Amino acid sequence: MKYISVAIDGPAGAGKSTMAKLVASRLGYSYVDTGAIYRTIGLFLQICGISPKDVDGITRLIDDAAIQIEYDSAGAQHMILNGQDVTEDLRTEEMGSYASQISALKVVRDVLLDLQRDLAATRNVVMDGRDIGTVVLPKADVKIFLTASPEVRAQRRLLELREKGNKKATLEHVLEDIRQRDLRDTTRAVAPLKQAPDAVVLDTSSLSPEESAAAILAIVEKRLAI
Ligand code: DC
Repeated sequence: MKYISVAIDGPAGAGKSTMAKLVASRLGYSYVDTGAIYRTIGLFLQICGISPKDVDGITRLIDDAAIQIEYDSAGAQHMILNGQDVTEDLRTEEMGSYASQISALKVVRDVLLDLQRDLAATRNVVMDGRDIGTVVLPKADVKIFLTASPEVRAQRRLLELREKGNKKATLEHVLEDIRQRDLRDTTRAVAPLKQAPDAVVLDTSSLSPEESAAAILAIVEKRLAI
């Protein structure tokens, strides 16, 4: 059976997960947050006390991380690391930065490639990440490159952090973090963040969440001819 895949790539804070969840729920597909998979490996290595720069240590330990992805009855993705649900521990700025550093390593990307492809081979998916349309699912039925200016992305991230009760975060700090992650994610040698030639680009800098949602659903529906 041929399953449908929708790939949504783009830089940190572009709104990929919100939009991917929306598309997945509209189509009845599984949403796969691949950033959470990189963050889970990052968490594992951090718990092991391994520096994100210690390639030998990472290569030695990476096979000890048993990662499973489960979905609850509401369709939300849960990350299971060596039998424990670690989903709640992943969405910090610290884990984002750690994940960005280790995701530059070939050994890490190779381990996660099969996991992501296996998911898409067994169900219809909307997958978001950095290299889904270029490397993981080059034959995806729909490819979208979602972006926005660094300033707009930082502003959105800041709001999100404030809503979660983080009062210490500042715009300068979040913007700096976004710039560093953009640089690392786009310049790494293995599977860098870049637009697939056949991706539709959507810049949401001047769009409201509702306008972005309408634009993205229109792209998907047109491509899938539904
Ligand atoms: O999407 P996110 O912020 O949760 O991702 C965290 C980091 O993981 C990101 O900065 C780069 C890396 N990543 C990646 O290299 N490839 C993916 N498909 C998803 C995430």
